[in-house]
Amino acid sequence: MWTQDLSPDQARQVRDLARQARANDGVDPLNEEAYRSLTDQTARHVIFNNNNVAIGYLNYSVRFATGQFVVHPEHRRRGIGTGLWRQLPSSPPVGLWAFGDLPAAQGFAAARGLRPERGLLKMTRPLAALPQADIPPDLVLRTFTATDADELLALNAAAFTHHPEQGQLDQAGLAARLAEPWFDPAGLILAFDADGMVGFHWTKQVDAHTGEVYVIAVAPRAQGRGYGKVLLAAGMSHLATQGLPTVVLYVDTADQTAVRMYERAGFVTVHRDVRYIPIQEQE
Ligand SMILES: CC(C)(COP(=O)(O)OP(=O)(O)OC[C@H]1O[C@@H](n2cnc3c(N)ncnc32)[C@H](O)[C@@H]1OP(=O)(O)O)[C@@H](O)C(=O)NCCC(=O)NCCS
Repeated sequence: MWTQDLSPDQARQVRDLARQARANDGVDPLNEEAYRSLTDQTARHVIFNNNNVAIGYLNYSVRFATGQFVVHPEHRRRGIGTGLWRQLPSSPPVGLWAFGDLPAAQGFAAARGLRPERGLLKMTRPLAALPQADIPPDLVLRTFTATDADELLALNAAAFTHHPEQGQLDQAGLAARLAEPWFDPAGLILAFDADGMVGFHWTKQVDAHTGEVYVIAVAPRAQGRGYGKVLLAAGMSHLATQGLPTVVLYVDTADQTAVRMYERAGFVTVHRDVRYIPIQEQE
């Protein structure tokens, strides 16, 4: 049932299924990690077929103990979701992502004894009337070069110890992102003080209208000095100079310091993803 190797045709069928669910639900049922895992063997997969067409799909990341699953809109409420979910191990408990936290996911979670464990917000603001932040005299901002990779990874790991996916970014993961067509070194802004790198703001152009605060991090040794605000403002002004009208970002609800920083910078929440976990495992 489980496989780590999907054939190109299976990967295409999963993408087709996700596209049909997205058209129906208005939300993508899978995230970037899941799409990447269709070809790079970083997750396990179960496909539920009907007449050789994928109508249900379960993605299980052993590394993060998370699952993502989707059932074709025309085949829901027939137990396919439950059948897929039952394939997951009960120990260690697997957190199930519900992107958009749609009514169907809430209903499924209630029926199967799951409760929200973690939330991820999508926030947005226009790239106009941007907040200004004065750059402190001891801080130097410049853009990324390949020789900054090691220092950036070390800072990222130190700043995201509480955030499993982001904190575990390694050489290979960084190299994969630097090779993405959207990568632009001018959009990866680094901050240095006399002792080295203290922070970075990695921006991304998502489409012709939208920029993203892809990752923003300040080294633990320099947190609380307002550098986050400075990096946020510098990245947003870079995105604005690209002619983009809007910026979005994704933030963990557990990261209240960051959520407050974004709210003060004029961001509002427009979307919420929730990770569900079995009730008995959490209590
Ligand atoms: C959530 C999802 C995977 C459920 O798949 P499914 O095959 O329809 O689920 P099941 O038929 O096994 O449903 C099991 C139970 O969940 C509950 N449930 C499922 N869909 C529901 C809905 N739309 N509203 C309320 N309860 C719902 C019901 O109690 C259902 O049992 P019942 O049909 O006997 O009443 C499917 O709706 C989907 O693909 N949604 C988009 C992706 C997503 O949100 N994934 C994350 C899930 S946590």
